[in-house]
Amino acid sequence: MGLFNTKNKAAGKPDGRVEGIAKVTGAGKYAAEYKVDNMCHAVFAGSTIAAGTIKSIYLDNAKQVEGVLDIITHLNKPAVPGFASETKLKETRFGLPLFHTDKVYFRNQPVAMVVADTLENATYAASLIEFTYQEDTPTVDFKKAHPSVPLKMQGKERGSLDAWSNAPQVVDQQYDIAAEVHNPMEMHATIAHWTADDKLVLYDKTQGVVNVQRTIAKIFEIPQENIEVFSEFVGGGFGSGLRVWTNGVGAVMAAKAVKRPVKLMLTRSQMFSLTGYRPAAWQRVKLGADNDGKFLGIHHQGKNGTSVFEPFQEGITSITRMVYNFDNLKAEQSIVPLNLGTPTWMRGPGDCTGAFAVECAIDELSYQLNMDPVALRLKNFAITHDPENKKPYSSNFIDECITKGAEMIDWKQRKQQPGALTEGDWKIGYGVAVGMWGAGRGNASAGITMEKDGTMTVKTAMTDIGTGTGTAMQNMTHTFTGMPKDKIKIALGHSTLPTAGSQGGSTGLSSISGAVSAVCDALKKQLADYAAAINPAYKDAKPADVLLSATGVSLKTDKNEFVSLADIWQKNNLTDISVKASSGPGAERQQYAFCCSTAHFVKVRVNTKTGKVKVERAICVADGGTIVNEKPAANQISGAIVGGIGMALMEEIHADEKLGNLVGNDLAGYHFAVNADAPIIEVAFINKPDPYVNPSGAKGLGEVGIIGCAPAIANAIYNATGKRLRDLPITPDKVL
Ligand code: MOS
Repeated sequence: MGLFNTKNKAAGKPDGRVEGIAKVTGAGKYAAEYKVDNMCHAVFAGSTIAAGTIKSIYLDNAKQVEGVLDIITHLNKPAVPGFASETKLKETRFGLPLFHTDKVYFRNQPVAMVVADTLENATYAASLIEFTYQEDTPTVDFKKAHPSVPLKMQGKERGSLDAWSNAPQVVDQQYDIAAEVHNPMEMHATIAHWTADDKLVLYDKTQGVVNVQRTIAKIFEIPQENIEVFSEFVGGGFGSGLRVWTNGVGAVMAAKAVKRPVKLMLTRSQMFSLTGYRPAAWQRVKLGADNDGKFLGIHHQGKNGTSVFEPFQEGITSITRMVYNFDNLKAEQSIVPLNLGTPTWMRGPGDCTGAFAVECAIDELSYQLNMDPVALRLKNFAITHDPENKKPYSSNFIDECITKGAEMIDWKQRKQQPGALTEGDWKIGYGVAVGMWGAGRGNASAGITMEKDGTMTVKTAMTDIGTGTGTAMQNMTHTFTGMPKDKIKIALGHSTLPTAGSQGGSTGLSSISGAVSAVCDALKKQLADYAAAINPAYKDAKPADVLLSATGVSLKTDKNEFVSLADIWQKNNLTDISVKASSGPGAERQQYAFCCSTAHFVKVRVNTKTGKVKVERAICVADGGTIVNEKPAANQISGAIVGGIGMALMEEIHADEKLGNLVGNDLAGYHFAVNADAPIIEVAFINKPDPYVNPSGAKGLGEVGIIGCAPAIANAIYNATGKRLRDLPITPDKVL
């Protein structure tokens, strides 16, 4: 994995990542790695039942352990204002009233927290706490629980189901997806430190420092500006860092209680229960078409698991409304409470789940019609307009993605007849599916500080979770100003930097590119004003006319009018130049619909004796607008496909039905795709700028890479074997 093979020449030449050296040498600090004087450690003791009530807690043995500073339970907790009532808890949007209830909602729920001088002492003491419970029967099996939960209308019915009740071609099938976890390499951890003047400093593993500020401010009822959050380097997120979890709240409580800085790092197995997951889902898709393959209507039903204390609904049916022209559409959804932690957004949330059912159902229809599934999709894509709101798409190249992907995999080699290609014990099949995601954009700010030697630091509070945002910011700053890249430094992930939203929902680059463009203009304007004191040609110069270099500024005129930075600094008596600017979506959002898309093509081999599925080729053609930097962009997609292979073939969190505990909740026990399970992933980009999305023309790529990957694999397995498998993961036992 990790290699990319693209025939398109991207706008930005592939560069190494700005944070690459810091990350691989260990110089870049993750949340748990900061050193704070006098820091101690907090460790959670988790419930050993999955449902019930705490009856008694015996702390004496734990208290004897050397170095123990405090033990917090629901009986002695320092009251947290945001957990004082149901209403307040709802407002915090935190969900779990940590140590403010005697109720146990899921196994491994934090029910006590030991604070001690060392991690070892805290861990040992936590193991000595004894609880007695009044135990209830937990519900953890989604497949058993969901049939009794009724569906509700989701959005408006489009047209009418009656209109296609006599469709000559109908597919009506049910699809299941097991719950799966993000588990990024970096552990979820928080260091909390109250300063002498009652300010709170947090080093947190998060995808959004401003979200952490806001959430902690709400829970503890302290002014947001009194909280400073660092998340300068992030070792992966996949959505698990989009919320504040118990480690954040626990660390703040502990630091307050012992009046010392506290580090709280979850263990790997705690991360399986306490930092969200993609919930299990059930879907039913009823798809109607005429005999030529024109879609007449779709009825999409979906349910997903959630926790018993917090409703989390996936947007399972959203994608159904975007990709194809369905004149008639009905969507229904509901959620199924389970005695598990709360699920959360995980890469391609909702759409990834929905696309599995819809893209498999379309594949099933293609065999029923005896029609090429590429041709069937091309016939039904909604290219020009969003079929839901009828707005024109700002740009939509899903048709080009699928056409190019078909060429790359040499789709002609595929046989329409399943099971027709064999090599010894292996059956060979080809599969296709597509993905789509709304190309969103949020408000963001950026700043630039420029030194006399031309060094520019471009800053924003936005994090870079490994997506290459910082590298893209460097590329864009170079493009917008002309300054050589080695003079452009990047500062990210700190709440005192110019404010920006979380890196999530594939909005990071899209949002930040507007801010970078605006701040580059502000800098050029500022430099032109200073230069005007030396050379009047700069008076009233527009940012677009100004060009920077490592030594000075010039105008895009015949005469060039070069003014050196040294002169600018001297004449204006400067120490440095600092500018800031903000940018966000505008009226274009009312006028246009925005999307990014992918087409996935895979070739699989299925062993007829062992049931093993090998993904032999994986091709993804993506429309992400302008590709600002090809290398991290292709890394994004290839990483997503490794995740998609895991989703299709391996990943599944199991909860023991009687005890409610997760089985195999570590990186040895949880089966996920590694390099050996993935071929060299071939990624190509359409690389055409979106004219309206933002000044860079780049649309997000983070989510859409995984959407459509799992159904492409399932469809290829059918093409290889003639066995239609509708229950992920498709493990060998199901294949045989
Ligand atoms: Mo993404 S699931 O918004 O990190």
